[in-house]
Amino acid sequence: MSKTMEQTVDHMMGFFKTKTITAALDLKIFDYFNDQAQTVESLATKSLLPPAALERLLIALVAMEYLKKDGENYILPQEHKDFLVSDKPQWLGWLGRHIDTFLYPLWSNLSSGIQQDSHQRVAAFGDNRSWFDMLYHNLDDVADFQEFLGKFAQPFIDGFTSEYDFSKHKRFLDIGSGIGTLPIAVADKFTDIELAICELPQAKSFLLDKLGEQGYGNRIDVIEGNVITGELPDIEYDLVHLGWMLHDYSHETQMVILNNIFQAMPVGGRFIASETPLNDDNTGPEFTSLLSLNMLVSTDGGIESDIKTYIKRFEDAGFSNVRILDIPGPRTLFVGEKI
Ligand SMILES: C[S@@+](CC[C@H](N)C(=O)[O-])C[C@H]1O[C@@H](n2cnc3c(N)ncnc32)[C@H](O)[C@@H]1O
Repeated sequence: MSKTMEQTVDHMMGFFKTKTITAALDLKIFDYFNDQAQTVESLATKSLLPPAALERLLIALVAMEYLKKDGENYILPQEHKDFLVSDKPQWLGWLGRHIDTFLYPLWSNLSSGIQQDSHQRVAAFGDNRSWFDMLYHNLDDVADFQEFLGKFAQPFIDGFTSEYDFSKHKRFLDIGSGIGTLPIAVADKFTDIELAICELPQAKSFLLDKLGEQGYGNRIDVIEGNVITGELPDIEYDLVHLGWMLHDYSHETQMVILNNIFQAMPVGGRFIASETPLNDDNTGPEFTSLLSLNMLVSTDGGIESDIKTYIKRFEDAGFSNVRILDIPGPRTLFVGEKI
């Protein structure tokens, strides 16, 4: 078999690995290893799983290097506990559940999605509500989505808050903030700036609970709204951010969003969008290109764009001095001013 053929087979069989790790997280197998090594028998007794099937899973987890084996004992290395054990802050089980519940069934219909140039929510779930209406129907699903996105966003937020001087602004509005990771990081670093979030009504109660639990309930204002219908806060914010949301919507809806933000902003205000754009020659990056397929099967026309397309959209909406702000981390910051 040639190297490229091997790579193709590897891509095709990749779902074996996806489902092995999401099943292990779903069954909370790793939680039993928090304090001690386990044998198949001890784990089967604690987890109430049939030993023969459990052993197959454990062998696969060793082969995939999540667990180690020493004699009859299976061991979870310390460095894996942080993201595999369910009470740890970096737990990836949120993402696992989102994959199992939504992404995997939607991606099963990818070829139809391409043939029809359309989402596959009806084919996968018999559900024709919008992506966010469907996703936010159930509180557990809201938590899965927002928790893992908050973790995905962290490296970008670390770079953004270390490089950008938020103190030169009076009021900061984060539209579609999710779990509020960015305003929380800004609050920790910049004491004087007023902070607010505008989120969809269905995402609000989860967000309020999370902010309250972490002690930010009074520091960060949460305003229910919808940037597509133009329901934005009355207060004027001289800094507005929109993170990883343009790509959830079609080219046309992205223009509506940008026009609405431009209208709502005061003269002198600055707008920043963080996205993960395609290369200008449409050669990748791989993750963004796959994310664009993910948007195809899940959302109503959501699509990834390249840098020049984002810049043009900003300019068409009326923003001036549109440029890219260099920050460390995985996202690209598009900046525009209202003059
Ligand atoms: C993909 S998440 C991004 C979360 C976070 N901003 C980030 O950068 O990781 C998109 C967020 O936008 C919110 N959202 C989607 N449509 C919206 C709309 N029309 N108005 C306001 N918020 C919206 C969703 O509830 C969700 O929290």
